[in-house]
Amino acid sequence: MTIANPAFATRTCRYGADALREAALLIRAGELVAVPTETVYGLAADATDDQAVAAIYSAKGRPSFNPLIVHVADLDMAERLADFSPMARLLAERFWPGPLTLVLPVRADSGLSALVTAGLPTVALRLPAHPAMRSLVRESGRPLAAPSANRSGSISPTRAEHVLASLSGRLRLVLDEGPTSEGLESTIAAPEADRVRLLRPGPVTAAMLEQAAGVPVTGAGDTSRIEAPGQLESHYAPSKPVRLNALRAEKDEYLIGFGLMPCHINLSLEADMREAAANLFSALHVADASAAASIAVAPIPVEGIGAAINDRLRRAAA
Ligand code: TXA
Ligand code: MG
Repeated sequence: MTIANPAFATRTCRYGADALREAALLIRAGELVAVPTETVYGLAADATDDQAVAAIYSAKGRPSFNPLIVHVADLDMAERLADFSPMARLLAERFWPGPLTLVLPVRADSGLSALVTAGLPTVALRLPAHPAMRSLVRESGRPLAAPSANRSGSISPTRAEHVLASLSGRLRLVLDEGPTSEGLESTIAAPEADRVRLLRPGPVTAAMLEQAAGVPVTGAGDTSRIEAPGQLESHYAPSKPVRLNALRAEKDEYLIGFGLMPCHINLSLEADMREAAANLFSALHVADASAAASIAVAPIPVEGIGAAINDRLRRAAA
């Protein structure tokens, strides 16, 4: 079993019908499988199985007070797990499937393992756009708890290789479907009657939420108010020191650039924010593996998805 025997071979399979069937069998047996989503790769297990969920915490080295996101295949499944207010339904209808996680009151009859919510009265639900996670939920017939597939506190994986570098020997199977398209973890929001609380900035921006909800979005860009328990100040952290707003590389620094500038790797030559978001974690992985002693990152504008990019960079540097 996963907890008792943490060292076994991790297989990587190209995502497809056969790999999916095998992944679903593993999930039903209480094992861990890494699965791509449009944001980052997730480390998935049956959210209704206490031992499987415990194995996620153990594989990641994650503190058990930090609850997990539960992935569903459709809105019906989500409504069996949590209570949807009219505001919650409006946001789900507007942004699902997609990179938005909704924090909602968990239903007493949800069947979810109490470890998933870490004892909170709420559950974080996500209906991803990427077909791999949705298909695995359907094929296994289980809601899937899935945090990012990396050791706790380190950089999130946007490629199968990143998962292996961080967790090899701690899970059975990685479904490989190449680099993820968004590159940053989902936006986390808690809808209320008269406002939406933004708990983690992400690809669905505060402006997009505000426009859809027609009520104020609070907590945006104000880190002291971020209330997702996992939003610890130091997170997404490479093993080396990180210097922000760097215009040139100092001695022994690996410079991650943005826009046309001399640098070691560029997030987007055209200064395109979505491209920069998609490339961010991969660039941090490359910089971390380089011979340089430390990492420097060029300034990134804060508009749109830039809020989420800067949020992750601040935590990487903390
Ligand atoms: O894009 C994503 O969201 C990826 C993919 C795999 O779906 N998942 C992901 O999971 O980023 P993770 O575990 O790395 O981040 C989940 C965050 C944590 O900060 C956690 O504290 C927060 O969600 N969270 C989970 N349940 C919560 C709840 N009931 N209330 C507030 N925050 C919650
Ligand atoms: Mg994470």
